[in-house]
Amino acid sequence: MKKRYIRHASELVTCKGSAPKHGKEMSDIGLIKDGAVIIHDDKIVATGTTEELDKQVDFEEYEVIDATGKTVMPGFVDSHTHFIFGGYRADEFSWRLKGDSYMSIMERGGGINATVVPTREATEEELIEAGEERLNRMLEFGVTTVEGKSGYGMDCDTELKQLRVMKKLDETHPVDIVRTFLGPHSVLPQWKGREREFLEEQLQVVMPKVKEENLAEFADIFTEKNVFNIEDSEYYLTEAKKMGFKLKIHADEIYQLGGAELASRVGAVSADHLLKASDEGIRQMRDAGVISTLLPATAFSLKEEYAPGRKMIDEGCAVALASDLNPGSCFTNSIPLLVALGCIYMNMSIEEVITALTINGAAAVDRADTVGSLEPGKQADLVILKFPSIHFMPYHTGINLVETVIKKGETVYH
Ligand code: NIG
Ligand code: FE
Repeated sequence: MKKRYIRHASELVTCKGSAPKHGKEMSDIGLIKDGAVIIHDDKIVATGTTEELDKQVDFEEYEVIDATGKTVMPGFVDSHTHFIFGGYRADEFSWRLKGDSYMSIMERGGGINATVVPTREATEEELIEAGEERLNRMLEFGVTTVEGKSGYGMDCDTELKQLRVMKKLDETHPVDIVRTFLGPHSVLPQWKGREREFLEEQLQVVMPKVKEENLAEFADIFTEKNVFNIEDSEYYLTEAKKMGFKLKIHADEIYQLGGAELASRVGAVSADHLLKASDEGIRQMRDAGVISTLLPATAFSLKEEYAPGRKMIDEGCAVALASDLNPGSCFTNSIPLLVALGCIYMNMSIEEVITALTINGAAAVDRADTVGSLEPGKQADLVILKFPSIHFMPYHTGINLVETVIKKGETVYH
């Protein structure tokens, strides 16, 4: 058995518990000064003060890691990304800088549809290579679990290819990957006006194959004006649930359509984006236990107003933060950027931001029982920061503070 003992962490953040944290609970990150963690193989055995845990450890049997002057916390869970894609859309970013909008570019045939051809043309090997590179960049930022979506094929073969690529990467790369089917990511020109038919094809032809090969745990849809309306989205999500998929939804991003309410009605695990969520939708998500996943780097890149994270927390919602890494609206997986935006522009405290990136992120991918906090019995996924306090995270703005990443008990980045 491999035994490791981390001691003398200036601050140990456990994010205690295995349930999502709502409202005020988000401020309680289980902070222990001069903290220590005992790890056996891939699992956490104990957390506490160094004084307490020193008594439990036979030093001869352990590899000891001295974390003096450092912060130790759970690995981050990036619970919303589209990291498998072909090609790039740098041209669209430059058009947006000159005043074009995301939706007008989409209506001209750019946007998501512009990523479809290069993703269809990419071989599985090419997607694996690019995906591996992106996972390495995530790991450097301390991300130990990531959610990844299909949605750049919008034909059966390519959707399955994207999901198979993620399944293979999950087997070979230290970062754990939770897979989501997002066939209804946009409406290709040949399906305009026949959205319901397109959804039927997803449900009857593509998704049974996804299930058969166990390629995705979640189903997701882009519910938006000029994309999929509420009625069609509700039909798709309800049917997907009957097939055994857990649900996610791209909701109320650009227009207020009632996506938050829909997520609550269908019992989605999370509703994501939510820039324009209504007050009633926010209350319904809280009552239905839907995680509100906010993606501030997308709002930043699109020069949109940030989602009302402060209001959601004050109303008692469980808020998660994620990157939304994708080739269009948000080509970044920067955790320091999320920390900065959360603290500086969304008026979240650093404690709330940490909860949003760990245990609530884990809950958004239905993994709160295994990752997202440092609890006895949980997977030993943790990061060591170069600085002695969590308060350096927003203060040392934009800088990656991660020194070491431990995944399932092994050091995978240093
Ligand atoms: O979450 N809003 C829809 N889907 C993605 C954008 C994907 C893209 O632009 O390629 C998002 O922002
Ligand atoms: Fe997205």
